[in-house]
Amino acid sequence: MSRVVHLASEARPWASTGGLAEVAASLSQAQFDAGDDAWLVLPAYRDALRVAEREGVVLRDTGVHGEVRLPVGTWAWRALRADAPGRPVVLVDCPALFDREGLYHGPDHVAFADNALRFAVFVRAALAALPRLVQGPLDVLHAHDWQTALAAYALATARAGEPPWTAGDTVAPASPAWSQGDPWQGCAAVFTIHNLGYPGRFPVHVAGELGLRHVHPEGLEFYGDVALIKAGVVWADAVTTVSPTYAREVRTPAHGEGFDGLLRHVSDRLYGVLNGIDSAWSPARDPHIAAPYDADDLSGKAACRAALLAEFGLQADASTPVFGSVSRFAHQKGLDLVADVVPDLVALDARLVVLGSGDPALEARFRALQATYPDHVGLFVGYDVGLSHRVEAGADAFLMPSRYEPCGLNQLYSMAYGTPPVVHRTGGLADTVTHASPTTLASGAATGFVFEHADAAGLRWAVGEAARLFRDAPEAWRALQRAGMTRDHSW
Ligand code: ADP
Ligand code: GLC
Repeated sequence: MSRVVHLASEARPWASTGGLAEVAASLSQAQFDAGDDAWLVLPAYRDALRVAEREGVVLRDTGVHGEVRLPVGTWAWRALRADAPGRPVVLVDCPALFDREGLYHGPDHVAFADNALRFAVFVRAALAALPRLVQGPLDVLHAHDWQTALAAYALATARAGEPPWTAGDTVAPASPAWSQGDPWQGCAAVFTIHNLGYPGRFPVHVAGELGLRHVHPEGLEFYGDVALIKAGVVWADAVTTVSPTYAREVRTPAHGEGFDGLLRHVSDRLYGVLNGIDSAWSPARDPHIAAPYDADDLSGKAACRAALLAEFGLQADASTPVFGSVSRFAHQKGLDLVADVVPDLVALDARLVVLGSGDPALEARFRALQATYPDHVGLFVGYDVGLSHRVEAGADAFLMPSRYEPCGLNQLYSMAYGTPPVVHRTGGLADTVTHASPTTLASGAATGFVFEHADAAGLRWAVGEAARLFRDAPEAWRALQRAGMTRDHSW
């Protein structure tokens, strides 16, 4: 049994903008289910308090509270614990920083000006609270993305005998006997990079405001600014990314976002560990979908397909391929390529259902496409968990043409739901989807369609391959579905 703590800026169902929320929730739960004493700590956002109320979960005041004292001010916090089954969940309640609409930005899409401060306070409060909540020495502190990277910095600099970054903070009640002295002494820090495209880059004066030393190229400095992701990469005992291919890619200039030199430098403690998916993503027991099904009996999937088409007012007979996509509208995801190939999908007489939100220009472009091709394109602009399950279950194939993808979860959900994914060969997509070639179809290894170049021509080719196999080779298509459904996608 290990005692493991995850610090994350989001976790389902409390607060969620994407894959990090899924992974923080499902990895900690999977460790707990495997017998570890695994904990999850996140900020008590206004949204998280709402979720608790909606789901009838009591947030109990643990009695552990304190103050974080930084050069720019003092922030009071208290630790709440969710009274719910599963691994323990702690929410750090600091209303001055987290009681507002939005996780990282307001409704105007402008990032909060105090984001660095918000997460620095969260990390310091969590480090103060945890020794008073867990029952003995911690083995692993697992920090995710730039928001919590400073946890690795705090542990390592204290261990190196430097003045602790957390000096001056207060916390009550007194620490239990096992944690007298440095409670983090024997604890290893693991830092996971979920997406190098979000490095937590801030003007250099932020370092002074947060009391951070080490503003130099081997430390936190990044091209004249500071990048908080470096607090994790430089100081964690182990650094992971979320797939083996992405772990290789980030060491190249093409994918390293300016950090490739540093990541090559830490190669001996950089690992690619593929994400798993939550056991709730199973078509056999998904409360969001019209009918259950599994690899042995796919008949329920036809009902899910009919329900999805009805929901979007589309019509398609059984031989018409229905493509689905669920995504953030961000450059990374290549949804603009999906928009580019809509005329090709129409020419193939296929259908397309898109769920997503983000880039306003792309939202407008899909709205225009939907208006131009109302019989072929279904669109919902927004974030809707239930609908994301209905798209995965109801579509025949799933489009995920990401320009880069550290791991990606939707292609895993797609395979689990018998909805072969069409993906660009990059990152975790390359690691998880096996292209349907004559050889892989014959051997039973094929699970989807993989194209080489992230451009409209690449996606157009792969969509054509998928539509052809779907229409002309129903038996091969069944085999493709079953191969994805029977793979182990768990942690
Ligand atoms: P990323 O974290 O880069 O966005 P992932 O594939 O790892 O990509 O995870 C995305 C997660 O967010 C998935 O669980 C997906 O279902 C969910 N998601 C993305 N967009 C939406 C949306 N518009 N509505 C509901 N869920 C969404
Ligand atoms: C990031 C990545 C995505 C990954 C997710 C969870 O959001 O963009 O590829 O699956 O984190 O690790």
